[in-house]
Amino acid sequence: MSIRWPAEAIWEAVVPLLPGFTVEILPQVDSTNTELMRRARTGQLEPILLVAERQTAGRGRLGRDWQSGASGGKRSDPHGEAPEGLSALTFSLGLPLQPADWSGLSLAVGLAVVQSLHPALQLKWPNDVWLHERKVAGILIETTSVGEVRYCVIGIGINLLPRDSAGLRTPAAALNEVLPDADAPGTLEALVLPLVGAVKAFETEGFAALRADFHARDLLYGREVICTDGTTGVARGVDASGALLVHTASGMQKISSAEVSVRPVPGTAAPTKP
Ligand code: BTN
Repeated sequence: MSIRWPAEAIWEAVVPLLPGFTVEILPQVDSTNTELMRRARTGQLEPILLVAERQTAGRGRLGRDWQSGASGGKRSDPHGEAPEGLSALTFSLGLPLQPADWSGLSLAVGLAVVQSLHPALQLKWPNDVWLHERKVAGILIETTSVGEVRYCVIGIGINLLPRDSAGLRTPAAALNEVLPDADAPGTLEALVLPLVGAVKAFETEGFAALRADFHARDLLYGREVICTDGTTGVARGVDASGALLVHTASGMQKISSAEVSVRPVPGTAAPTKP
């Protein structure tokens, strides 16, 4: 299978924002995040988009695995053919970054993903992307300091076609539920420039100005939630730093730890948003 990636078009669009930017497509790697973190630690600190057609050891948040089908997804075709394509898009953006305050970066990234792909996509704090009450994409952000430089790796995995949900904590959704023609190259092209723009804007402006936009896509707003740190209550959006606000029996709690995972109580739909 040979995939036509829009590497040149992406490079041309992004390089004015990120001088020295390159695009690299690999048929296979353990994990695009692991690879860019490895490279950064050996001093390769230029901005790069690294796409893998297959990951053998994809990683998720909280030390979890990220499994994505390699290829072979069949998509329906108006001409009766069933061309093969990747069933997931997996890539990482690596770049030096120096915001005054890092809090809220993962929310800003999630927002760029949902805003650039489809109006039905929602965010589950801090940065899972959900569709139709199921997870459709995940984001893993890691940083490393090399000398004076803080290098940031933003990894994104998006299910394009339905996948086997066996063993998953959350059943999976697929982007083709709302974008039947979505393929990996087109989805990448739609996403990368807005993502880079959002990350650069975050670097200078921080998260606070994005709060209302986050609330517009907030899956949890107004719903009963359970957090892995034991907090239960009604989600009330995020504060200016991106911390989750949960109205509990003992008052409003702020959850900012990336180690905490939150889920909506099944069957509770959001009432109204601010
Ligand atoms: C999560 O939902 O827990 C985050 C999943 C992040 C997966 C992406 S796929 C590309 C990049 N490489 C990885 O190993 N992980 C991220």
